[in-house]
Amino acid sequence: MIHKTTSRVIASLFGAALATGAAFADDMASYTDMFEPLPALPPIPAANSLTAEKIELGKMLFFEPRISGSGVISCATCHNPALGWSDRIPTAVGHDGQVGNRNTPTVLNSGFLTSQFWDGREPDLEGQALGPIQAEIEMNMDLEAAIRRLKEFDIYHQHFAAAFPGDDDPINAQNIADAIASFERTLNTPNSPFDRYLRGDVGAMSVAQVEGMKLFVDAGCVACHNGPALTDGNFHRFELPGSKDEGRFLVTGDDFDMFAFRTPTLRNVAVTYPYFNNGSVDDLRDAVQLMGQQMLGQDFAEDELENLVAFMHALTGEMPNVTIPALP
Ligand code: HEC
Ligand code: HEC
Repeated sequence: MIHKTTSRVIASLFGAALATGAAFADDMASYTDMFEPLPALPPIPAANSLTAEKIELGKMLFFEPRISGSGVISCATCHNPALGWSDRIPTAVGHDGQVGNRNTPTVLNSGFLTSQFWDGREPDLEGQALGPIQAEIEMNMDLEAAIRRLKEFDIYHQHFAAAFPGDDDPINAQNIADAIASFERTLNTPNSPFDRYLRGDVGAMSVAQVEGMKLFVDAGCVACHNGPALTDGNFHRFELPGSKDEGRFLVTGDDFDMFAFRTPTLRNVAVTYPYFNNGSVDDLRDAVQLMGQQMLGQDFAEDELENLVAFMHALTGEMPNVTIPALP
Protein backbone atom coordinates (compact mmCIF):
# COMPACT_ATOMS: atom_id res chain seq x y z
CA MET A 1 0.00 0.00 0.00
CA ILE A 2 1.32 3.43 -0.94
CA HIS A 3 1.39 6.13 1.68
CA LYS A 4 -0.56 9.32 0.79
CA THR A 5 2.43 11.68 0.68
CA THR A 6 4.52 9.12 -1.14
CA SER A 7 1.82 8.75 -3.79
CA ARG A 8 1.70 12.54 -4.19
CA VAL A 9 5.46 12.57 -4.67
CA ILE A 10 5.17 9.76 -7.17
CA ALA A 11 2.37 11.60 -8.98
CA SER A 12 4.38 14.79 -9.30
CA LEU A 13 7.47 12.86 -10.36
CA PHE A 14 5.34 11.11 -12.95
CA GLY A 15 4.03 14.49 -14.14
CA ALA A 16 7.56 15.82 -14.43
CA ALA A 17 8.57 12.74 -16.38
CA LEU A 18 5.65 13.28 -18.75
CA ALA A 19 6.64 16.91 -19.27
CA THR A 20 10.27 15.96 -19.99
CA GLY A 21 8.96 13.23 -22.28
CA ALA A 22 7.02 15.79 -24.31
CA ALA A 23 10.00 18.15 -24.50
CA PHE A 24 12.18 15.20 -25.50
CA ALA A 25 9.71 14.26 -28.25
CA ASP A 26 9.68 17.87 -29.55
CA ASP A 27 13.44 17.95 -29.46
CA MET A 28 13.70 14.64 -31.32
CA ALA A 29 11.12 15.72 -33.91
CA SER A 30 13.40 18.60 -34.88
CA TYR A 31 15.90 15.92 -35.86
CA THR A 32 13.72 13.16 -37.25
CA ASP A 33 11.71 15.60 -39.40
CA MET A 34 14.90 16.11 -41.40
CA PHE A 35 14.72 12.52 -42.66
CA GLU A 36 12.33 10.08 -44.25
CA PRO A 37 12.26 6.30 -44.02
CA LEU A 38 13.18 4.39 -47.16
CA PRO A 39 10.00 3.60 -49.13
CA ALA A 40 9.52 0.00 -50.31
CA LEU A 41 10.09 1.03 -53.95
CA PRO A 42 11.68 4.00 -55.72
CA PRO A 43 9.67 6.05 -58.24
CA ILE A 44 8.82 3.94 -61.31
CA PRO A 45 9.08 5.79 -64.64
CA ALA A 46 5.94 5.82 -66.80
CA ALA A 47 7.91 4.52 -69.80
CA ASN A 48 9.10 1.40 -67.94
CA SER A 49 6.38 -0.11 -65.78
CA LEU A 50 7.62 -2.57 -63.17
CA THR A 51 6.43 -6.11 -63.90
CA ALA A 52 7.41 -9.49 -62.46
CA GLU A 53 8.47 -10.66 -65.95
CA LYS A 54 10.84 -7.73 -66.49
CA ILE A 55 12.32 -8.13 -63.01
CA GLU A 56 12.98 -11.84 -63.61
CA LEU A 57 14.58 -11.18 -67.01
CA GLY A 58 16.60 -8.25 -65.63
CA LYS A 59 17.94 -10.51 -62.92
CA MET A 60 19.11 -13.08 -65.50
CA LEU A 61 20.84 -10.35 -67.50
CA PHE A 62 22.46 -8.88 -64.38
CA PHE A 63 24.14 -12.22 -63.68
CA GLU A 64 24.78 -13.09 -67.39
CA PRO A 65 28.50 -13.16 -68.28
CA ARG A 66 27.78 -14.01 -71.93
CA ILE A 67 27.04 -10.36 -72.64
CA SER A 68 30.70 -9.54 -72.00
CA GLY A 69 33.51 -9.76 -74.53
CA SER A 70 35.41 -12.31 -72.46
CA GLY A 71 32.27 -14.26 -71.55
CA VAL A 72 33.25 -14.19 -67.89
CA ILE A 73 32.24 -10.75 -66.57
CA SER A 74 28.70 -9.89 -65.53
CA CYS A 75 27.26 -6.91 -63.70
CA ALA A 76 27.41 -9.10 -60.58
CA THR A 77 31.18 -9.49 -60.94
CA CYS A 78 31.62 -5.92 -59.74
CA HIS A 79 28.21 -5.45 -58.10
CA ASN A 80 28.53 -8.64 -56.07
CA PRO A 81 25.46 -9.48 -53.92
CA ALA A 82 27.68 -11.00 -51.25
CA LEU A 83 29.72 -7.79 -50.94
CA GLY A 84 26.96 -5.22 -50.53
CA TRP A 85 26.36 -5.36 -54.31
CA SER A 86 29.76 -3.78 -54.80
CA ASP A 87 33.29 -5.25 -54.95
CA ARG A 88 35.24 -4.09 -51.90
CA ILE A 89 38.30 -3.12 -53.89
CA PRO A 90 39.47 0.47 -54.37
CA THR A 91 38.77 0.71 -58.10
CA ALA A 92 36.99 -1.75 -60.39
CA VAL A 93 38.83 -4.50 -62.27
CA GLY A 94 37.16 -5.26 -65.60
CA HIS A 95 37.87 -6.76 -69.02
CA ASP A 96 41.32 -8.35 -69.29
CA GLY A 97 42.17 -7.33 -65.74
CA GLN A 98 42.12 -3.65 -66.58
CA VAL A 99 41.90 -1.44 -63.53
CA GLY A 100 39.58 1.58 -63.78
CA ASN A 101 40.04 4.78 -61.83
CA ARG A 102 36.74 4.81 -59.98
CA ASN A 103 35.30 2.86 -57.08
CA THR A 104 32.31 0.62 -57.80
CA PRO A 105 29.26 2.11 -56.10
CA THR A 106 26.62 -0.24 -54.75
CA VAL A 107 23.51 -0.76 -56.89
CA LEU A 108 21.43 -1.12 -53.72
CA ASN A 109 18.75 1.60 -53.65
CA SER A 110 20.10 3.00 -56.94
CA GLY A 111 16.51 3.57 -58.09
CA PHE A 112 16.34 6.40 -55.58
CA LEU A 113 19.23 8.30 -57.18
CA THR A 114 18.41 11.27 -59.40
CA SER A 115 21.44 10.60 -61.60
CA GLN A 116 23.79 7.67 -62.11
CA PHE A 117 27.61 7.42 -61.79
CA TRP A 118 29.97 9.44 -59.62
CA ASP A 119 29.77 12.25 -62.16
CA GLY A 120 26.02 11.87 -62.83
CA ARG A 121 26.54 11.42 -66.55
CA GLU A 122 23.42 9.28 -66.97
CA PRO A 123 20.05 10.50 -65.76
CA ASP A 124 18.50 7.13 -64.94
CA LEU A 125 19.01 3.37 -64.64
CA GLU A 126 17.75 2.74 -68.18
CA GLY A 127 20.41 5.09 -69.54
CA GLN A 128 23.04 3.59 -67.28
CA ALA A 129 22.54 -0.11 -68.04
CA LEU A 130 24.05 -0.37 -71.53
CA GLY A 131 27.18 1.61 -70.63
CA PRO A 132 29.09 -1.10 -68.75
CA ILE A 133 28.31 -3.81 -71.32
CA GLN A 134 30.09 -1.74 -73.98
CA ALA A 135 32.76 -0.03 -71.86
CA GLU A 136 36.16 -1.34 -72.93
CA ILE A 137 37.45 -1.57 -69.39
CA GLU A 138 34.26 -3.13 -68.00
CA MET A 139 32.52 -5.80 -70.10
CA ASN A 140 33.90 -4.77 -73.53
CA MET A 141 31.09 -6.21 -75.64
CA ASP A 142 29.60 -4.78 -78.81
CA LEU A 143 25.85 -4.39 -78.16
CA GLU A 144 24.86 -6.04 -81.44
CA ALA A 145 27.07 -9.00 -80.58
CA ALA A 146 25.51 -9.21 -77.11
CA ILE A 147 22.05 -9.26 -78.66
CA ARG A 148 23.10 -11.98 -81.13
CA ARG A 149 24.46 -14.08 -78.28
CA LEU A 150 21.24 -13.79 -76.26
CA LYS A 151 19.24 -14.76 -79.35
CA GLU A 152 21.02 -18.12 -79.42
CA PHE A 153 19.01 -19.23 -76.38
CA ASP A 154 15.36 -20.27 -76.47
CA ILE A 155 14.97 -19.33 -72.85
CA TYR A 156 15.85 -15.70 -73.64
CA HIS A 157 13.34 -15.62 -76.51
CA GLN A 158 10.71 -16.83 -74.02
CA HIS A 159 11.66 -14.39 -71.27
CA PHE A 160 11.92 -11.33 -73.53
CA ALA A 161 8.56 -12.19 -75.15
CA ALA A 162 6.94 -12.53 -71.73
CA ALA A 163 8.46 -9.29 -70.45
CA PHE A 164 7.72 -7.24 -73.57
CA PRO A 165 4.51 -8.68 -75.05
CA GLY A 166 3.55 -7.09 -78.35
CA ASP A 167 7.16 -6.46 -79.44
CA ASP A 168 7.93 -8.19 -82.76
CA ASP A 169 11.63 -8.37 -82.01
CA PRO A 170 11.83 -8.08 -78.22
CA ILE A 171 15.52 -8.98 -77.81
CA ASN A 172 16.82 -5.46 -78.39
CA ALA A 173 19.00 -2.91 -76.61
CA GLN A 174 16.18 -0.82 -75.13
CA ASN A 175 14.51 -3.88 -73.64
CA ILE A 176 17.78 -5.11 -72.16
CA ALA A 177 18.16 -1.73 -70.46
CA ASP A 178 14.54 -1.66 -69.31
CA ALA A 179 14.74 -5.17 -67.83
CA ILE A 180 18.02 -4.55 -65.98
CA ALA A 181 16.70 -1.22 -64.63
CA SER A 182 13.52 -2.96 -63.44
CA PHE A 183 15.52 -5.56 -61.56
CA GLU A 184 17.70 -2.86 -59.99
CA ARG A 185 14.62 -0.99 -58.75
CA THR A 186 13.82 -4.01 -56.57
CA LEU A 187 17.24 -3.98 -54.86
CA ASN A 188 16.20 -1.89 -51.89
CA THR A 189 17.13 -2.19 -48.25
CA PRO A 190 14.24 -1.13 -46.00
CA ASN A 191 13.88 -1.47 -42.22
CA SER A 192 17.34 -0.40 -41.13
CA PRO A 193 17.54 0.50 -37.42
CA PHE A 194 17.33 4.14 -38.60
CA ASP A 195 14.11 3.50 -40.57
CA ARG A 196 12.56 1.69 -37.63
CA TYR A 197 13.55 4.56 -35.35
CA LEU A 198 11.99 7.10 -37.73
CA ARG A 199 8.79 5.06 -37.71
CA GLY A 200 8.60 5.36 -33.93
CA ASP A 201 10.53 2.38 -32.59
CA VAL A 202 12.75 4.44 -30.27
CA GLY A 203 14.66 1.37 -29.11
CA ALA A 204 15.81 0.53 -32.65
CA MET A 205 18.91 2.74 -32.41
CA SER A 206 21.49 2.71 -29.63
CA VAL A 207 22.25 5.83 -27.58
CA ALA A 208 25.45 6.36 -29.61
CA GLN A 209 23.50 6.04 -32.87
CA VAL A 210 20.92 8.61 -31.73
CA GLU A 211 23.74 10.98 -30.68
CA GLY A 212 25.34 10.37 -34.06
CA MET A 213 22.11 11.23 -35.85
CA LYS A 214 21.86 14.49 -33.90
CA LEU A 215 25.43 15.44 -34.71
CA PHE A 216 24.83 14.51 -38.36
CA VAL A 217 22.11 17.19 -38.35
CA ASP A 218 23.83 19.75 -36.10
CA ALA A 219 27.18 19.59 -37.90
CA GLY A 220 25.52 19.98 -41.31
CA CYS A 221 26.06 16.58 -42.96
CA VAL A 222 22.32 16.57 -43.63
CA ALA A 223 22.70 19.55 -45.98
CA CYS A 224 24.00 17.15 -48.65
CA HIS A 225 23.05 13.73 -47.30
CA ASN A 226 19.26 13.98 -47.17
CA GLY A 227 16.16 12.40 -48.71
CA PRO A 228 15.31 8.69 -48.61
CA ALA A 229 18.75 7.61 -49.92
CA LEU A 230 20.61 10.27 -47.89
CA THR A 231 21.85 12.11 -50.96
CA ASP A 232 20.76 15.46 -52.37
CA GLY A 233 21.64 14.29 -55.88
CA ASN A 234 23.87 17.32 -56.28
CA PHE A 235 27.55 17.65 -57.15
CA HIS A 236 30.05 18.98 -54.66
CA ARG A 237 33.72 19.72 -54.95
CA PHE A 238 35.86 17.21 -53.10
CA GLU A 239 39.58 16.88 -53.54
CA LEU A 240 40.93 13.53 -52.55
CA PRO A 241 44.61 13.47 -51.77
CA GLY A 242 46.37 12.01 -54.82
CA SER A 243 43.34 11.97 -57.15
CA LYS A 244 43.41 13.63 -60.57
CA ASP A 245 39.80 12.73 -61.42
CA GLU A 246 38.05 15.90 -62.59
CA GLY A 247 34.59 14.45 -61.85
CA ARG A 248 31.55 16.36 -63.05
CA PHE A 249 33.79 18.68 -65.10
CA LEU A 250 34.35 15.79 -67.53
CA VAL A 251 30.60 15.80 -68.22
CA THR A 252 29.78 19.52 -68.34
CA GLY A 253 33.12 21.19 -69.19
CA ASP A 254 32.08 23.87 -66.72
CA ASP A 255 34.91 25.10 -64.44
CA PHE A 256 32.45 25.27 -61.59
CA ASP A 257 32.16 21.45 -61.76
CA MET A 258 35.90 20.78 -61.53
CA PHE A 259 36.49 17.97 -58.98
CA ALA A 260 32.78 17.83 -58.15
CA PHE A 261 31.15 14.45 -57.49
CA ARG A 262 27.57 13.43 -56.87
CA THR A 263 26.75 12.94 -53.22
CA PRO A 264 26.60 9.14 -52.80
CA THR A 265 23.93 7.34 -50.84
CA LEU A 266 24.88 6.60 -47.23
CA ARG A 267 22.49 3.69 -46.99
CA ASN A 268 24.48 0.50 -46.19
CA VAL A 269 27.66 2.58 -46.15
CA ALA A 270 29.09 0.38 -43.38
CA VAL A 271 29.19 -2.59 -45.76
CA THR A 272 30.23 -0.81 -48.97
CA TYR A 273 33.84 0.05 -48.14
CA PRO A 274 36.30 1.23 -49.36
CA TYR A 275 35.14 4.83 -49.71
CA PHE A 276 35.09 7.79 -52.08
CA ASN A 277 35.25 8.03 -55.86
CA ASN A 278 38.64 6.30 -56.02
CA GLY A 279 38.13 3.95 -53.07
CA SER A 280 41.23 5.30 -51.37
CA VAL A 281 39.84 5.33 -47.82
CA ASP A 282 39.23 1.96 -46.11
CA ASP A 283 37.96 3.02 -42.76
CA LEU A 284 34.54 4.60 -42.21
CA ARG A 285 35.91 6.63 -39.33
CA ASP A 286 38.55 8.19 -41.58
CA ALA A 287 35.93 8.81 -44.28
CA VAL A 288 33.73 10.68 -41.81
CA GLN A 289 36.67 12.72 -40.50
CA LEU A 290 37.66 13.70 -44.05
CA MET A 291 34.07 14.75 -44.80
CA GLY A 292 34.05 16.93 -41.67
CA GLN A 293 37.34 18.54 -42.63
CA GLN A 294 36.65 19.13 -46.33
CA MET A 295 32.91 19.72 -46.47
CA LEU A 296 32.37 21.40 -43.12
CA GLY A 297 35.79 22.72 -42.09
CA GLN A 298 35.51 20.83 -38.84
CA ASP A 299 37.68 18.32 -36.96
CA PHE A 300 35.54 15.95 -34.93
CA ALA A 301 36.63 14.78 -31.48
CA GLU A 302 37.07 11.05 -30.91
CA ASP A 303 33.68 10.56 -29.19
CA GLU A 304 31.91 12.53 -31.92
CA LEU A 305 33.50 10.35 -34.58
CA GLU A 306 32.42 7.24 -32.69
CA ASN A 307 28.82 8.45 -32.59
CA LEU A 308 28.76 9.44 -36.25
CA VAL A 309 30.19 6.07 -37.25
CA ALA A 310 27.64 4.32 -35.00
CA PHE A 311 24.92 6.25 -36.83
CA MET A 312 26.35 5.17 -40.20
CA HIS A 313 25.96 1.56 -39.01
CA ALA A 314 22.28 2.22 -38.27
CA LEU A 315 21.81 2.82 -42.01
CA THR A 316 22.35 -0.84 -42.93
CA GLY A 317 18.98 -2.26 -43.95
CA GLU A 318 17.58 -5.65 -44.87
CA MET A 319 19.38 -7.03 -47.91
CA PRO A 320 17.11 -7.96 -50.84
CA ASN A 321 16.29 -11.63 -50.92
CA VAL A 322 17.49 -12.54 -54.40
CA THR A 323 17.65 -16.14 -55.57
CA ILE A 324 20.54 -16.54 -57.98
CA PRO A 325 19.09 -17.31 -61.43
CA ALA A 326 19.87 -20.59 -63.21
CA LEU A 327 21.23 -19.39 -66.57
CA PRO A 328 21.07 -21.48 -69.77
C1 HEC B 1 34.20 -3.95 -64.14
C2 HEC B 1 33.32 -3.68 -63.03
C3 HEC B 1 31.88 -3.30 -63.35
C4 HEC B 1 30.97 -4.01 -64.10
C5 HEC B 1 31.19 -5.30 -64.86
C6 HEC B 1 29.73 -3.28 -64.00
N1 HEC B 1 29.90 -2.17 -63.21
FE1 HEC B 1 28.45 -0.88 -62.67
N2 HEC B 1 29.84 0.37 -61.95
C7 HEC B 1 31.19 0.11 -61.88
C8 HEC B 1 31.91 1.33 -61.58
C9 HEC B 1 33.40 1.48 -61.40
C10 HEC B 1 30.95 2.35 -61.50
C11 HEC B 1 31.21 3.84 -61.26
C12 HEC B 1 31.68 4.41 -62.59
C13 HEC B 1 31.66 5.92 -62.65
O1 HEC B 1 31.07 6.56 -61.80
O2 HEC B 1 32.24 6.47 -63.60
C14 HEC B 1 29.64 1.71 -61.71
C15 HEC B 1 28.41 2.35 -61.60
C16 HEC B 1 27.19 1.72 -61.72
C17 HEC B 1 25.91 2.30 -61.38
C18 HEC B 1 25.68 3.69 -60.82
C19 HEC B 1 25.46 3.68 -59.33
C20 HEC B 1 25.61 5.06 -58.73
O3 HEC B 1 25.64 5.16 -57.49
O4 HEC B 1 25.73 6.05 -59.46
C21 HEC B 1 24.96 1.35 -61.65
C22 HEC B 1 23.47 1.47 -61.44
C23 HEC B 1 25.65 0.20 -62.19
N3 HEC B 1 27.01 0.45 -62.19
C24 HEC B 1 25.04 -0.94 -62.68
C25 HEC B 1 25.71 -1.88 -63.47
C26 HEC B 1 25.07 -2.85 -64.35
C27 HEC B 1 23.58 -2.97 -64.56
C28 HEC B 1 26.06 -3.60 -64.92
C29 HEC B 1 25.94 -4.71 -65.94
C30 HEC B 1 25.25 -4.36 -67.19
C31 HEC B 1 27.32 -3.10 -64.37
N4 HEC B 1 27.06 -2.05 -63.54
C32 HEC B 1 28.56 -3.66 -64.64
C33 HEC B 1 31.77 -1.13 -62.06
C34 HEC B 1 31.19 -2.13 -62.82
C1 HEC C 1 28.73 19.67 -49.19
C2 HEC C 1 28.08 18.38 -49.26
C3 HEC C 1 28.44 17.32 -48.25
C4 HEC C 1 28.47 17.42 -46.89
C5 HEC C 1 28.18 18.63 -46.02
C6 HEC C 1 28.82 16.11 -46.40
N1 HEC C 1 28.99 15.23 -47.44
FE1 HEC C 1 29.53 13.29 -47.30
N2 HEC C 1 29.77 13.21 -49.30
C7 HEC C 1 29.52 14.25 -50.19
C8 HEC C 1 30.07 13.91 -51.49
C9 HEC C 1 30.00 14.76 -52.74
C10 HEC C 1 30.69 12.65 -51.35
C11 HEC C 1 31.46 11.88 -52.42
C12 HEC C 1 32.90 12.38 -52.42
C13 HEC C 1 33.76 11.63 -53.43
O1 HEC C 1 34.02 10.45 -53.25
O2 HEC C 1 34.15 12.26 -54.42
C14 HEC C 1 30.46 12.23 -49.97
C15 HEC C 1 30.88 11.01 -49.44
C16 HEC C 1 30.65 10.60 -48.14
C17 HEC C 1 30.99 9.31 -47.62
C18 HEC C 1 31.62 8.16 -48.41
C19 HEC C 1 30.53 7.35 -49.07
C20 HEC C 1 31.01 6.32 -50.06
O3 HEC C 1 30.25 5.39 -50.33
O4 HEC C 1 32.13 6.43 -50.58
C21 HEC C 1 30.62 9.28 -46.29
C22 HEC C 1 30.76 8.13 -45.32
C23 HEC C 1 30.06 10.58 -46.00
N3 HEC C 1 30.08 11.35 -47.16
C24 HEC C 1 29.59 10.98 -44.76
C25 HEC C 1 29.37 12.31 -44.43
C26 HEC C 1 29.23 12.80 -43.08
C27 HEC C 1 29.22 11.94 -41.83
C28 HEC C 1 29.11 14.15 -43.16
C29 HEC C 1 29.08 15.15 -42.03
C30 HEC C 1 30.22 15.08 -41.15
C31 HEC C 1 29.13 14.50 -44.57
N4 HEC C 1 29.31 13.36 -45.30
C32 HEC C 1 28.99 15.78 -45.06
C33 HEC C 1 28.86 15.42 -49.89
C34 HEC C 1 28.77 15.94 -48.60
